[in-house]
Amino acid sequence: MQTITPEAFFNARRQFLKLGAGALVSSTAISKLLAELPKDTSLHYIPDSNAQKLVINPMEQATHYVNFYEFSTDKEAPVKLSQNMKTTPWHLGFFGEIAKEQMIEVDTLIAKFGLEERIYRFRCVEGWSMVVPWIGFPLYKLLDYLEPNSDAKYVKFTTRHDPTIFPDQNRGIFSAIKYPYVEGLRMDEARHPLTFIAVGMYGKRLLPQNGAPIRLVVPWKYGFKSIKSLDLIECVKEQPLNTWQDQNPNEYGFYANVNPEVDHPRWTQAKERVLGKLLKQPTLKFNGYAKEVEHLYAGMDLRKFF
Ligand code: MTE
Repeated sequence: MQTITPEAFFNARRQFLKLGAGALVSSTAISKLLAELPKDTSLHYIPDSNAQKLVINPMEQATHYVNFYEFSTDKEAPVKLSQNMKTTPWHLGFFGEIAKEQMIEVDTLIAKFGLEERIYRFRCVEGWSMVVPWIGFPLYKLLDYLEPNSDAKYVKFTTRHDPTIFPDQNRGIFSAIKYPYVEGLRMDEARHPLTFIAVGMYGKRLLPQNGAPIRLVVPWKYGFKSIKSLDLIECVKEQPLNTWQDQNPNEYGFYANVNPEVDHPRWTQAKERVLGKLLKQPTLKFNGYAKEVEHLYAGMDLRKFF
C-alpha cells in the first residue's frame, strides 16, 4: 500500500507555506540553508562534444522567444512576468508505481546524478526551431533510482500549480489552457537515453521563463512535450491525458513525434523556421534522431498515433 498521495503532498506544502518556514525550521537551520544556496548560477557539467556540429542559437533567442502559458501566451512577456519567480528550494514529488514515494529537492537530484550537457535540436509544433545546449541528466538515471514496478507503463509529468507564481493560473475560466500542465511518456520513451531532465542551459541554471528550476526535454518530439517547472513525476499504469491533447484532440496527440510527413490540420510540418533565420529549412523525421528512436514506433501508424 502506498501511503502518500499527490493530494497529500499538495496539502502538506500548502500547510508548510501557511505556517511559514520559520515555524518548522530553526533559525540556525535556515542560515545554514541560505549559506548553502548557490551564489552564482554557473553549473559544473561534462560538455557535449557536439559531434554533429549543430549550430547553437544565441542564448538571447532561446531565452526571449518562449512558450510558457502559465505566464502568458505572448512569446516575450514571460521574461518580465517571471522575474520574481522563486525557484530555490524546489521540492519535486515522486509518486505512483515506484519503490518508495518521496519528495526530493532539485540540488539533491543534481548531486545524485551529476550533470552533462546535451546540444539538441528543438522543434516547436508551431513551426519554429532552434538548437539549445541543455544541462541536466538523462531521465533513466532518475527512473533507475525510483525503481518503477512492473505496473509502471507510463511516466506522467505535472507542472507546479501555484497561482502566486503563475498569473494565468489565477484567471479561472478565462485562463489560456487548463492547469496544471500535464505531459506523459511511454516507459520505453522515458527510459530512452536521449530523454533528458534539464536544470540549466548555456552553462547556467535555467531562467524562469525556460522552465526553472527543472524541466523535461525530449528532442525527437514537438516542444510541447518538454514540460516546464516540474512539480510531480509519477509512474502510472494508464496513458496520461496530456494538456494539449485534452485541449484539442484533433490537433494534438499523445506521441507528438516530429514528423514532416504528418501535417498539423492547420499548417504543414514539412518545413521549419530556425529562430534568427529568414529562409525555412526542411524538417527532419523525429527531428533528426530517427536512427536512435524509430525502433520505439515499429509497426505503429504514425498518422494515427500522432
Ligand atoms: N510547459 C508548461 N508548463 N507550460 C507551457 O506553456 N509550453 C510548451 C513547452 N513546455 C509549455 C511547457 C511548448 S508549446 C514549447 S514549444 C516549449 O515548452 C517551449 O520551451 P522554451 O520556451 O524553453 O523554448
